[in-house]
Amino acid sequence: MKLVQDFFLLFTIYFLFFSACQQQSESKKYLIGFSQCNSSEPWREAMNQELQKEAANHPELELIISDAQQDNSKQVADVENFIVKEIDLLIISPNEAQPLTAIVEEAFTKGIPVIVLDRKILSDKYTVFIGADNVLIGEAAGKYAAALLEGKGNIVEIWGLKGSTPAQERHAGFMKGIAAYPEIQIIYEQDGAWLRRKGLEIMENALQRFEKIDLVYGHNDPMAMGAYIAAKNANRNMEMYFLGIDGLPGAEGGAQAVLNGELNATFLYPSGGKEAILIALKILHDETVDKNITLQTATIDSSNAKKFI
Ligand code: FRU
Repeated sequence: MKLVQDFFLLFTIYFLFFSACQQQSESKKYLIGFSQCNSSEPWREAMNQELQKEAANHPELELIISDAQQDNSKQVADVENFIVKEIDLLIISPNEAQPLTAIVEEAFTKGIPVIVLDRKILSDKYTVFIGADNVLIGEAAGKYAAALLEGKGNIVEIWGLKGSTPAQERHAGFMKGIAAYPEIQIIYEQDGAWLRRKGLEIMENALQRFEKIDLVYGHNDPMAMGAYIAAKNANRNMEMYFLGIDGLPGAEGGAQAVLNGELNATFLYPSGGKEAILIALKILHDETVDKNITLQTATIDSSNAKKFI
């Protein structure tokens, strides 16, 4: 009888111990800090939503998002704040590469896994980079421009923020794409900081200075669309082609602008929000992951824009 009693006692102790452990692991929360460079652009809003939507599918995750409002020092402070909060993983889309490099290195060196999303830093001290290949996108845009222009014409290039890697890579890729056409010239290039308002202003200046503009290459759709509005206001939109990048769905997005005939083409630039959360989970569960994850792009023009709405 004593033996049976002992057995039950032992069994109960084991049972209580293991269920307590299990409960603890089920309620275990991982805190992910996402440092967004600017939440007020449409593409960035879509990125935040994608991250939030995917994070909501995983109850063990808690996601906090900070908005640096295009300010490098604010973004450094945001990451410092995350470090103080003892986040389990950092996701960052850096405003500009150089000013954000040291703080990302610091987080990584302190043992916080780091996912760099869409824009790069100037160091390899991070866990994973996720983003589409901006050189490839720029090159596709360059080749598309050369075909539209039949190898000859004047181009206005509206850059994204010059200190951010997508702008540098979209420019480099575009130059590759038009390299075989000496009669294609970039006659005017300005930093539009990724902003529609600046795209419009830059184009107003370009229209005043140049009588012949054959194509506008905007490093993103908002700037290309801003330029389109400037040209339309000046009654010159029919004289030239407009190319953008992003291809966001929805009424305000680039795919719809292609359908409306405002942009001749745009190139899909996925935000990678969903992938970032899925990769974060793998890292948090100690699975091995590739250091570079390249997202797919696509050319969107009147032949296929409906599919991207
Ligand atoms: C939004 C955005 C996108 C662009 C990306 C590049 O901030 O400008 O339009 O494709 O950033 O990082």
